[in-house]
Amino acid sequence: MLTITPLHPLFAARVTGLDLNNALDDAVFAAISDAFDRYSVLVFPQQKIDDATQIRFSERFGPLESTRAGANGAGSKLIVLTNIGLDGKIGASSDKQVLNNKANRIWHTDSSFKAVSARASLLSAREIPSQGGDTEYASLRCAYAALSEADKTLVEARVAIHDFTWSRSRIDTALVSDAERAAQPPVRQAVVVDSRYGKALYLGAHAHYIEGMDEAESRALIDRLMAFGTQDRFIYRHTWSPHDLVLWDNRAVLHRATPFATSNERRHMVRTTVAGRAPTIASQSAQAAE
Ligand code: OGA
Ligand code: MN
Repeated sequence: MLTITPLHPLFAARVTGLDLNNALDDAVFAAISDAFDRYSVLVFPQQKIDDATQIRFSERFGPLESTRAGANGAGSKLIVLTNIGLDGKIGASSDKQVLNNKANRIWHTDSSFKAVSARASLLSAREIPSQGGDTEYASLRCAYAALSEADKTLVEARVAIHDFTWSRSRIDTALVSDAERAAQPPVRQAVVVDSRYGKALYLGAHAHYIEGMDEAESRALIDRLMAFGTQDRFIYRHTWSPHDLVLWDNRAVLHRATPFATSNERRHMVRTTVAGRAPTIASQSAQAAE
């Protein structure tokens, strides 16, 4: 029987009583989909799945993103986060992998630099280190609910410019290729997004500045909201077990990777990303429909 058990006082739940290798009937999927809307992070333990099964389950939520150029798995529906080389051994990381790993350790939401940003991500733990390599999630929906009325008014209807080149440049300018720069021009995103379970702040590493504010004022506000939203009380830290699959709502939570001993411990994770159904700014979907 499908069982949903909260993992944190505010959000995140464990889902047991199903095997994703079997076809899910519509009623079971509807219960999962409801739990996703409500809890923002769902952990499915002991799901020994292959890539095709991961893709099939992920597609129940909607069409998947294709992996951007410059990520491991570019052009496919998978992003592979691994320190294991083609020979099956722990490999020396390329400069690009080192950059991507560093980037993942900063609070972010996947694909917020795309015009239509991701709705959900699913990360499957194929191999995990004996220690470290946890993933943390911070609920910006719970954080929004805890904002002062003055701050809610301040952020309402604001637009942030999310810029992949800018966020990567903060880590290492030399490693953003011209092709990446051209493929990911800055995009506009709402600072507050709504859902049936309430509003959430929508920020993260790619949020560069806020329209109508100068850079210093924008940075101060973004940094303050990020610090507020990533307080311990809004964080669920996931310690992986082998074959966990974790699904999260990119429009409700931020996430970040934590360190592990990359040169002597194996970690192999496979991600699929469910595309957004609409831009975060309602007027942009109206424009797109014109
Ligand atoms: C991701 C990600 C963090 C991790 O897959 O999008 O940010 O801990 N992963 O691997
Ligand atoms: Mn990520």
